[in-house]
Amino acid sequence: MNTEQRASGAQRAAVSVPATSANLGPGYDCLGAALDLRDYYRVELTTAPGVRVHVTGEGADTVPRDHSNLVASSFLRCFEHLGDTPPVGVDIYCTNAIPHGRGLGSSSAATVGGLALGRAMSVRGDELPNYALLEFATELEGHPDNVAPAVFGGFTVSWVENRVGRAVQLQPHPDVVPVVAISPTPLATSVARELMPAEVPLADAIFNVTRASLLCHALTQDPELLLPATADALHQDHRASAYPAAHQLVSTMREHGRAAVISGAGPSVLALAYGDPEAVAADLSRHAGSGWDVRILAFSAAGIIES
Ligand code: HSE
Repeated sequence: MNTEQRASGAQRAAVSVPATSANLGPGYDCLGAALDLRDYYRVELTTAPGVRVHVTGEGADTVPRDHSNLVASSFLRCFEHLGDTPPVGVDIYCTNAIPHGRGLGSSSAATVGGLALGRAMSVRGDELPNYALLEFATELEGHPDNVAPAVFGGFTVSWVENRVGRAVQLQPHPDVVPVVAISPTPLATSVARELMPAEVPLADAIFNVTRASLLCHALTQDPELLLPATADALHQDHRASAYPAAHQLVSTMREHGRAAVISGAGPSVLALAYGDPEAVAADLSRHAGSGWDVRILAFSAAGIIES
């Protein structure tokens, strides 16, 4: 397609997508929450052929600047998925606040953001409502627990049914505050996933089913139960060798009664504070040691925001 044929499509689009914390302890590949830390992505048609990506903020020194950039490749995949032809030339501008490789959903934000930009620019964008965007993003990401809150916001329960990603959105209790300790070093999700065993004991599966179920109640209705509800027997111990400092930090925080978990595939740590976020942040800072960036955040009720 040339630019003349695209005359009825949009000339530019802008979206923002939140950081996410997946797993939340027991909800491996299932539970996730959106955080009020956003990447902003913008695309503009140009007459120069090709894709150029301009990045400021997180990842500015490391991410590719061409079609292989994750925002750009997702943007292009969106046109392919819709049976539309992408524009001949675009500039994509990324203003990134989500740290990369820290377990805070930066790649999900890039995937969801690129798809949302493509949807906004395609004449067939109406054929990709959020539920369908989630399906495609899940296919690209491989699991739905980060992309679901990135699309819908809030606290999401996601699952895969006949290989299709689905999710429902719940609202976190208003008095629960997410506090993150961002690791000074990154960890690739692929490395963390390789450490997972192919099979787990039935007792561990039962443990996580019960705690994940309890967490859906604790995070929405009864935060007093957050400590038992965030316990995990399925993934954090298996991955301890990939994030020893984070694993120790989670253990220490939990021994002090704090509902701490590894954020996503790590190596950052998320603590769900109920009533005392400053005290939780102080505990995280004290036990994490130097180099960790402790931030009191909020849940984001919104996922994709188009502007
Ligand atoms: N559920 C995923 C994992 C989240 O822990 O591997 C990271 O993508």
